[in-house]
Amino acid sequence: MASGDSFYVTTPIFYVNDVPHIGHAYTEVAADVLARWHRQAGDDTWLLTGTDEHGEKILRTAVANGVTPKQWADQLVESAWKPLLQTVDIANDDYIRTTDERHEKGVTAFIQQLHDDGHIYEGVYEGYYCVGCEEYKQLDDLVETEAGDYAGRKLCKIHALPVEILKEKNYFFRMSGFQQQLLDLYESRPDFVQPESVRNEIIQFVKQGLEDLSISRSSFDWGIQVPWDPSHVIYVWFDALLNYVTAVGYGDPAQRAEFLRRWPATHIVGKDIARFHAVIWPAMLMAAGLPVPKRVFGHGWLLVGGEKMSKSKLTGIAPQQITEVFGSDAFRYYFLRAISFGQDGSFSWEDLSARYQAELANGFGNLASRVVAMVTRYFTGSVPAAGEYTDAELAIQRTVATAVADADAAMERLAIHEGIAAIWTIVDELNGYLTEQEPWVLARGAADDSAAAERLGTVLYTASEGLRALAVLLSPVMPKATATLWDALGAQAGLGALTAQPIRAAGEWGQLPAGSTVTPLAGLFPRIEEPVSAVSGAA
Ligand code: MSP
Repeated sequence: MASGDSFYVTTPIFYVNDVPHIGHAYTEVAADVLARWHRQAGDDTWLLTGTDEHGEKILRTAVANGVTPKQWADQLVESAWKPLLQTVDIANDDYIRTTDERHEKGVTAFIQQLHDDGHIYEGVYEGYYCVGCEEYKQLDDLVETEAGDYAGRKLCKIHALPVEILKEKNYFFRMSGFQQQLLDLYESRPDFVQPESVRNEIIQFVKQGLEDLSISRSSFDWGIQVPWDPSHVIYVWFDALLNYVTAVGYGDPAQRAEFLRRWPATHIVGKDIARFHAVIWPAMLMAAGLPVPKRVFGHGWLLVGGEKMSKSKLTGIAPQQITEVFGSDAFRYYFLRAISFGQDGSFSWEDLSARYQAELANGFGNLASRVVAMVTRYFTGSVPAAGEYTDAELAIQRTVATAVADADAAMERLAIHEGIAAIWTIVDELNGYLTEQEPWVLARGAADDSAAAERLGTVLYTASEGLRALAVLLSPVMPKATATLWDALGAQAGLGALTAQPIRAAGEWGQLPAGSTVTPLAGLFPRIEEPVSAVSGAA
């Protein structure tokens, strides 16, 4: 993409019935890395996250806890959901709550317009409803068990809990009328739904035929009122999906320019909710005459014991359990590097710990400390000028240039793991380069051999400049460690702030000025003292 283009990226808005686990943090981190990447590339970036606070699930949780749903939501937002953003270091531009006035106004305006334009009618719905999913279920989505507490009952496949039979007067959105337009959209824009596995599933689903969607409830009142019939509240998903436009000013004439500037968005969601985003949501937008999203990416699940991690199944791990031991940078790196974005991934403390040690502490952290220590020792802390480059240095320069182009292309495709892998070629090449060039051997001869002294300068300039590129490229993934490295390289004086470095130009060689003053670097990734078994006991 060209620098300056709009890049609007969203996370799902999270239900406030419970506290976050690492599956939620995973979505946040993925969207944040993409946002930081684009922001640093000079794109007109906006990262939105927030909370989904209406509906029966939240109401029931609040009632069970003896408070009003609004009190419950306020408490969870302040004590759990906003703190999650600090825990995993999210630099969001906005936070929307579906109880915000701006949201309620926009939703009301939207549904009224659809009603006025004939897209909504009144009917009766009877069907199976899963409160966990907040969704009517088809028989295919259900299983029946023969044993246990729920013997003979129909259970939701996702929640493994019984569904309820509901029959009520509802307002319906004529979604069936958009089947062909949706199929045309998937066909004409193959990257609209990603990855391919999710795209295929969505196409199959829509080809089977779309039904109209029930979009109101009258059996409870925790939601936004249907403007022409206050005895109904708007279905929670219809309400929630609209957050992506109400947050950037839809429905507020004073914010029209902001809306046109941001929308459409790239939506990062879990694959379990891809259908809402790739079928219902574009149909709603088509009905309103608004542009459909730019892309919907359905990422995989974090699995524990082969199943989707979830609080209701008691397999949820709190993000702090990991960040308190390994830090937020390692959290961000690990989940985006170890799991191909779009696939499921099994989480294990052993794997996290092994990658922390091998890739972060030994691979990247050690490289940085060694180079800074050698510049300190052999050049009294002043980055030397390079002399004549040999093939070895030219190879490093090519690696850096290629890594930047590959990483940017991968981030553009939302292949975050490939982006990080491309950047990591620099870590590996630089480590190999130092082993081959043996600057510590050159240093022994440098005092009375000016050729060795010049060579030593060339090698350490190359390594320092390589670290400069790594700091810039890894800043979206590991903002804290790279800021520390930037300080240690003394890069601020000559180049300015790390996050102001244009990421697509990170491969242009020779940016770190010779003479920059390095300062000693304690390990970027300190040794973890606790044995892993003690850590895993915490789960
Ligand atoms: N409120 C709806 C989203 C509305 S968006 C308009 C919702 N909320 S949720 O809190 O249940 O889930 C939010 C996200 O967390 C979903 O994208 C879901 O896929 C993700 N995850 C929940 N458990 C997960 C894992 N175990 N692994 C990865 N992501 C998981 O759905």
